[in-house]
Amino acid sequence: MVRLAIEGGEPVRDDPIPIARPSMTDEEIKAVAEVLRSGQLAQGPRVEEFERAFAEVAGTEHCVATSSGTTALHLAYEALGADVVLCPAFTFIATASAALHAGADVVFVDIDPETYCMDPEHLEDTLKALKPHLKDTTVVVAPVHLYGHPADMDAINEVAEDHDALVVEDAAQAHGATYKGNPVGSLGHAACFSFYPTKNITTGEGGAVTTDDRELADRIASLRSHGEIERYHHAEIGYNFRMTDIAAAIGLVQLERLDELNEARRRNARFYLKEMADLEPYISLPVEKPWAEHVYHQFTIRINTEELGVGRDEFAEALRAEGVECAVHYPIPLHKQPALARKGSANVSLPESERAAREVLSIPVHPGLTEEDLEDVVRAVEKVVTGLAERS
Ligand SMILES: Cc1ncc(COP(=O)(O)O)c(C=O)c1O
Repeated sequence: MVRLAIEGGEPVRDDPIPIARPSMTDEEIKAVAEVLRSGQLAQGPRVEEFERAFAEVAGTEHCVATSSGTTALHLAYEALGADVVLCPAFTFIATASAALHAGADVVFVDIDPETYCMDPEHLEDTLKALKPHLKDTTVVVAPVHLYGHPADMDAINEVAEDHDALVVEDAAQAHGATYKGNPVGSLGHAACFSFYPTKNITTGEGGAVTTDDRELADRIASLRSHGEIERYHHAEIGYNFRMTDIAAAIGLVQLERLDELNEARRRNARFYLKEMADLEPYISLPVEKPWAEHVYHQFTIRINTEELGVGRDEFAEALRAEGVECAVHYPIPLHKQPALARKGSANVSLPESERAAREVLSIPVHPGLTEEDLEDVVRAVEKVVTGLAERS
């Protein structure tokens, strides 16, 4: 019998392996010091430079940098005049809450169980059912490239077009991912990114909207800074959602490193996929669709609780005891969140989102992992699977 650490056995690791860790070099530190010495701390030349560089990565004409991914979404929804936003129920709350802040209603769509991204067929059914209520409204469809895997954008764009809806990608977790060879960020009317410290690249806090639509970019840029069109002339009521030059300086260095950082994530994922393949009846491993290049913001497994005879949370607790940090992205689908259920979504049934919320578990995949870390993660997952399976 395997003696699990949770039962007092020897853990695989004494020093826990973190689930996420920003990768910083002396270059980021130097770039920040330069900005601090310059006296120009708030939005300035570094932000402009970052916007030009990031537009190139996203494959768009324009990029507007913001204070966070949440404010990027808020500005994109508001500038498009969204009345209704359809987004997956299985995502971080900001995809939906930003829509509510922007004055739109939110409708939740179920996910594809393999990619965890918006299910185009359920989107179609939802839009058909809503049709009588959508007259003279601006509808935005907001697919999320969850965990770094692109959503099925051709299918989603086709459904959206059939229903005269606009598309805003939530690419907060997918910098550098591609769909049929095209970068995420360029696949809808606009796309939003986050540069939070756990993301594939970071600016500390920060975000961006990318788009080919000049007018839209201008409106977003103006809303970002109090609706200003020239100094102290305000065309509309806006916000302070600006990025600082300090953040942009970090981002410019991180952007140079994006390919290397994503390749490290992909390499780590390949190792897990190979080494954990025979655990498949008990856990399911992430998939990469033939049309996708996954950038593994998260490496998220499914705990097949029936096969294993224990729940996901028990599994997570046992894995943590072995010295491997893990996290649940996300334990409650949005239609069941207290903050959103009050808006009338609580009785909706979205079975794949609900099942994913019960079964998913993310394990460390960040670029800072050493070979020893990777081997220990595999050993710990194997040990927990074997130990729990023996007991069930
Ligand atoms: C899918 C998704 N959307 C939006 C956001 C919001 O980004 P931020 O935390 O930068 O506001 C995040 C990040 O946490 C996210 O993961």
